[in-house]
Amino acid sequence: MSGTSRRPLVLDLDTGIDDALALAYALGSPEVELVAVICSYGNVAVDTAVRNTHALLELLGYPDIPVYRGTDRALSASAAFEPPEGVARIHGANGLGGQHIGCMCRRAPGDGVDFLVRSADAGTQASRDAHFDGKNDVKTGGARGSSFYYVPTGPLTNLASALVRAPELARTLPRVTFMGGALTVPGNVTPCAEANVHNDPEAADVVLRLGLPTRMIGLDVTHQVVLTREDTARWRALGTSAGVLFADMTDHYIDIYEQNNPHMGGCALHDPLAVAAAIDPSLVGCLGANLRVDLEGPTRGRTVCDPERLREAQKTCEVAVTVDAPRFLAEFRKRVGRVLGAPRAR
Ligand code: RIB
Ligand code: CA
Repeated sequence: MSGTSRRPLVLDLDTGIDDALALAYALGSPEVELVAVICSYGNVAVDTAVRNTHALLELLGYPDIPVYRGTDRALSASAAFEPPEGVARIHGANGLGGQHIGCMCRRAPGDGVDFLVRSADAGTQASRDAHFDGKNDVKTGGARGSSFYYVPTGPLTNLASALVRAPELARTLPRVTFMGGALTVPGNVTPCAEANVHNDPEAADVVLRLGLPTRMIGLDVTHQVVLTREDTARWRALGTSAGVLFADMTDHYIDIYEQNNPHMGGCALHDPLAVAAAIDPSLVGCLGANLRVDLEGPTRGRTVCDPERLREAQKTCEVAVTVDAPRFLAEFRKRVGRVLGAPRAR
C-alpha cells in the first residue's frame, strides 16, 4: 500500500475486453489505489475471468494485486454459467479477443463475496473510528479504509449475494457505481435488457430495491463514449507488449461493433466509464430514481422506475443520462496511454 491518500478501489469484473480497459483505466488513475479485483461470470465463465485478470495484472506490472473468485452463476441458475456463442463472438472465446497472454496465475486467495462483506464491515468500522478518534486507515482481510470505491462492471450477483448475507450493507456501503442497465435507450441483448442486468435480473433487482445508494452507468451514457481505430493505432505505436496486445484485443471488439452497430464508428467504452464516473461523478449528469428490474415476461431484465416508490422523496439511484464525452475520452486516452506506454517494472 502506498501510504498516500489515494482512495482504495475494488473492481468486480467479468473480465472481457472492456473490463480489461476498465482495469487499465483504474491502474492509470492517481486518485485511487486498486486494492483487489473480484471476478464474476458474464463475458466468460468465472474461472476464465479470474485467469484473465491475473494475466492482465501481470502484463501491466501489478502481479500482487489480489484477485478473488466470485459467484459462478446467477442467483436463480442451477448450473455454473458458460458464455453463449453470441457472447464468445463479441469478446472472443477467451474473453480477450483471442489474444493470448501468458500467466503465472496464482491461486485466487478466496471467495469474492466473503471479501466484499469483510471490506464493507471494515469500512464501516473505520468510519466509526474516524468519527471518534480520527483514524481512517484500518488494515483488515478486506479492502481497507473508511470508504472505498466498489465498481461492478459485470452481473450484480456478487453484490446481491453480499446484501442477502449481510443486509446492513445497504446502509453502510458507500455509493456503488455500476455498469449496467438502460433507462432511456433500448437494451443490447433484448429490446429491454442490457447484458449485465440480463445475466442476473434478480440480482440487479435486489441491489436496486434494498435501499443501497447506487449510480447506474448504463447504455444511456456508455453508447455515447466511443473508441476508434485511431486510438488503438496509437497504442500499437507505443511499441510495448501491453500496447500491442490491448490494440489487437480492442480491434477485435471494434470489428464486432462495426458488424452489430455500424452507426457508432467504434466500440463503446462501457466499463471504463463506470470506473471514471466513480472517481469523478461530475463526468456524468444524473437523474434521481428508485429503480427496479422487470423479472417476468418479454421485458425481463428491463431497469425501470419502481411504481411503488415513485413518490418517495429520497431516490436511491443516480441514473446517468448525460456524459461529458470529450472530457472522459481525454482522460481515458491519458490514463490508459500511461499504463500501456510504461507498464510497471516487475
Ligand atoms: O452491456 C455492456 C456490458 O456487458 C459490459 O460490462 C460488458 O463488459 C458486458 O459485460
Ligand atoms: Ca463487463
